[in-house]
Amino acid sequence: MRAMPAPLAYQASSIIRSNTTRCRGGICMTEHWNAIRKHWQLLGSPLRPPAEVVETYDRELELARSHVVMFGVTPELAGLGARMTAVDESADMIAGIWPGDTDTRKAVQGDWFDLPFPGASVDALIGDGCLSVIGAAEFRRALFASIARALKDDGRAGIRLYVSPETPDDPKDVRALALSGGVATFHELKWRVAMTAIGAAPDYIMPVRRILEQFDRMFPDREELSARTGWELPVIGTIDVYRNSPAIYSFAPVAALVQEAEAYFSDVGIASTGTYGLAERCPLLALRSPKRRD
Ligand SMILES: C[S@@+](CC[C@H](N)C(=O)[O-])C[C@H]1O[C@@H](n2cnc3c(N)ncnc32)[C@H](O)[C@@H]1O
Repeated sequence: MRAMPAPLAYQASSIIRSNTTRCRGGICMTEHWNAIRKHWQLLGSPLRPPAEVVETYDRELELARSHVVMFGVTPELAGLGARMTAVDESADMIAGIWPGDTDTRKAVQGDWFDLPFPGASVDALIGDGCLSVIGAAEFRRALFASIARALKDDGRAGIRLYVSPETPDDPKDVRALALSGGVATFHELKWRVAMTAIGAAPDYIMPVRRILEQFDRMFPDREELSARTGWELPVIGTIDVYRNSPAIYSFAPVAALVQEAEAYFSDVGIASTGTYGLAERCPLLALRSPKRRD
């Protein structure tokens, strides 16, 4: 077995809460998500999970009779499980996106890195895109550690990934694909553009401001893009939310993420989430048999 990296989970809360990581120029991560919340209705697949993704979570993790913990308040996933507790740090996202508490589901304000549950108490845990929105590998490792700590020995977790190809796409090819109608949604294009800019970035990180810069370089004429694809200008304009954002995303290749996860779980699998646009880069990472590290 390969040597495990030093456990970072203990430091996670202080790292994640440091001002330089969470805020920049006076703008904080919760404001990034609040800005996205304001145009939520303009978002679409793959950022918002289509029905086949919801079915994949259910099928792969056998959620029907479980109490499911969800990272975030993704409305499409709110009906999964026999019961659900959704955890999100943003009161605005809970108020604005969550479809509401019922007898069987509720949303609580909390931090994924410091979960409000006892260790080894969670049956099933899901999260959509979570590993990409927290940034560098140290945070991915801290998140794996947090999940491993929370899960029961026979618990399971599923995180839908946004993974970059092993060989980066040429921006010219992505531009040609989009203008010829080969990209299903603007949001798929946004991720394809982001993935062209990863290059040799450490930990495959991508400040979202660079996604916007790369997009503006590749598609300087938004009206042309709109005319050629049929995407409304306000939908294309959703990318402008990245302009002053401190958020750092990551788009790692699947092999790198599996290797990172294997330090925290004995059973790590990958499942397809369907056939929607970019589905091949949005697989489900299934995590079982948590390694007890503390
Ligand atoms: C579930 S994620 C990704 C959503 C969407 N599928 C996408 O790809 O853009 C978005 C949510 O994560 C929440 N979030 C991000 N980091 C968090 C953390 N450390 N603890 C709790 N919630 C967090 C944000 O407030 C936001 O509501």
